[in-house]
Amino acid sequence: MKAILPVTRTLKALDGAVARFRAKRETVALVPTMGALHAGHLALVRLARKKADRVVVSIFVNPAQFAPHEDFASYPRRLSADVGVLGREGVDLVWAPDTAVMYPQGFSTRIAPEGPALAGLEDAFRPHFFGGVATVVAKLFGQVRPDIAVFGQKDYQQLKVVTRLAADLDLRVKVIGLPTVREKDGLALSSRNLYLSAEERVRAPALHRVLETCAERIAAGRPIKGVMASGLTALTRDGFAVDYLEARHAETLAPVKSAKDGPIRLLVAARLGATRLIDNLAV
Ligand code: PAF
Repeated sequence: MKAILPVTRTLKALDGAVARFRAKRETVALVPTMGALHAGHLALVRLARKKADRVVVSIFVNPAQFAPHEDFASYPRRLSADVGVLGREGVDLVWAPDTAVMYPQGFSTRIAPEGPALAGLEDAFRPHFFGGVATVVAKLFGQVRPDIAVFGQKDYQQLKVVTRLAADLDLRVKVIGLPTVREKDGLALSSRNLYLSAEERVRAPALHRVLETCAERIAAGRPIKGVMASGLTALTRDGFAVDYLEARHAETLAPVKSAKDGPIRLLVAARLGATRLIDNLAV
């Protein structure tokens, strides 16, 4: 009979479970999530299983990374369904603290990441976001003390911020980024895709198609400025309200003027109706 996947909700239970792994000298991978798991998360879990003896998945909808007007209250929460899926994936432990465990009374520390966190992309539209992500990820790393942590490249700027965080604060965790998992029509998997109406869902893959077209044109030597301007026009015509569509250096996220300044990553954030989607692609 298959063992039931343990869900720990207190630091004491988490410490005990991780100590049992460590007593057997097992390595530990952490996959941080906010739940509402989809195939993209499961790909992170599968990679984590290849890289470490034990896999811990955290499920915590982090209030610190949502602005008051954002979707914290309505963010999908499906703990028991998520745990069922993770059990079938061979995960060893779920860490699902509630807010009072993560941010107990008197909590007063917030990390203020710089570098990639101030690239003028997500941070320009969600100024509170990376402070909240960096704070919770640093806490998750401190709580679980994993050897490796796996994040999706879909949140590309977040991946760069977390990689920097781990290195700058000597957190002794290797951060691994997994390429974005997509639907057959190219739409990047995201928990927020659940918000799309049927009609918006049909239009949403245009985000990826436009990135592909821009990447092909830049790779073919066309000037970046003109390529990105036509990408913006195409997205607007397809009904997106575009926050940004940018060509950046793939590592530093600094703006690039020509293909010589590469490697280049294209990054986009755009709203379709009430749903904000992000995506990115290598040139
Ligand atoms: O990418 C996410 O799901 C979240 O930003 C993360 C990394 C779990 C931190 O809350």
